[in-house]
Amino acid sequence: MQFPNIFVLATAVFSTSAIACKCLNTSTKAPILESTEACCGIAKANFVGDDCTIDSLQNNNLYDFRTCCAYRSALTDC
Ligand SMILES: *[C@@H]1O[C@H](CO)[C@@H](O)[C@H](O)[C@H]1NC(C)=O
Repeated sequence: MQFPNIFVLATAVFSTSAIACKCLNTSTKAPILESTEACCGIAKANFVGDDCTIDSLQNNNLYDFRTCCAYRSALTDC
């Protein structure tokens, strides 16, 4: 029963490394709520609370989200 334990551990590492994405101010690193919400919508991902959930931002969606934040002169935290 080695494999299931390794799988659980790997899943835990992935889920704690980044659970959500935000657009951040390039200089202050402060989250920019309106950009996060707008870019989350553009990336067709789930906006929850004040951030965009990472599980809804895989592959192309994550690229769209990052591009959108960059277009708004912002960084992303994922
Ligand atoms: C980032 O923060 C600075 C200082 O508060 C502000 O002047 C600037 O407009 C902010 N940039 C964005 C993209 O929100």
